[in-house]
Amino acid sequence: MARIKSVGVLCSGGDAPGMNAAIRAVVRYGISRGLKVYGINRGYLGLLEHDIVPMDLSSVANIIQRGGTVLRTSRCPAWHRKSTRKRAAAILREHKIDALVVIGGDGSFTGAMLLERETGFPTMGVPGTIDNDIQGTDDTIGFDTAINTALDSIDRIRDTASSHDRLFIVEVMGRHCGMIATYAGIGGGAETVVVPEERHRLSTIVKKIESGIKRGKTSSIIVVAEGRAGGGMGELLNRQLKREGYNPRLCVLGHTQRGGSPTAKDRMLASAMGAFAVDCLLKGKSGGMTANQGKVMVYLPYRKVLSGRKTLPRGIHDLMSILAN
Ligand code: F6P
Repeated sequence: MARIKSVGVLCSGGDAPGMNAAIRAVVRYGISRGLKVYGINRGYLGLLEHDIVPMDLSSVANIIQRGGTVLRTSRCPAWHRKSTRKRAAAILREHKIDALVVIGGDGSFTGAMLLERETGFPTMGVPGTIDNDIQGTDDTIGFDTAINTALDSIDRIRDTASSHDRLFIVEVMGRHCGMIATYAGIGGGAETVVVPEERHRLSTIVKKIESGIKRGKTSSIIVVAEGRAGGGMGELLNRQLKREGYNPRLCVLGHTQRGGSPTAKDRMLASAMGAFAVDCLLKGKSGGMTANQGKVMVYLPYRKVLSGRKTLPRGIHDLMSILAN
């Protein structure tokens, strides 16, 4: 691959706190290495509409502390068509963009992988999703902020739960992945954590509630992962527990988890990943994602990243079962 002279950056899929720090890193690191950098608004959708703007050092000033993404984001069903991806590569070339950094989740990376495979257009993925459901990287940008936001809500709910001797169900996001539920559940001292990775058994949940009551507990919090995009697990459990004679309150945290100022950890991760993605492209490496493994940043090809689902770390899972009581 000839040395690239310019790079485009876009966000795709659900927004995540820290995306702005990643955009800033791509722009400032890219410029420091002599590249022209272009921001693509509204993800793949904006790309198809030529919504592309040149970026300079000051276009990313004062954004590192802001939630959301200044480039905005979208989900783009048209990208599923091969003809659309062919058109996208032509648009990028027309704007004299040599490579693309995609900040998003697994769906966005599938789109980037197909674009590159079919058209030869170089791309690098930066994992940005609150779900932390991407295989191969310890963390995704936004996860740390989201669990801290969820934790803040759980702490508040704990106050009212204990004042009223109530049972609360708190539904958190994460689609098919229980990372948010597990971390927020452990951190928030939840009595029960329900994750999609495990078959949820009502009898086990009831047993836990009852053993708590026997020990003198007057209130409990169950943290439940939404189970699929759009949620539903919280409502299901609410109905089931009502049928068992309980009077729970359901609180769905929903999109509150996606907003807010990123934590220091997310800002650092996003900054390092954004710069690393540009470095990979400069070294002729593309078709993969930046991943943090321990303290090291590595390049992982999309096919490895997308070959399976992230599993809950065993130690964390065991800790959750022991501590949630
Ligand atoms: O993937 C991030 C995520 O926030 C999931 O946790 C959630 O299921 C989904 O996006 C919600 O998507 P939308 O913003 O389209 O409602």
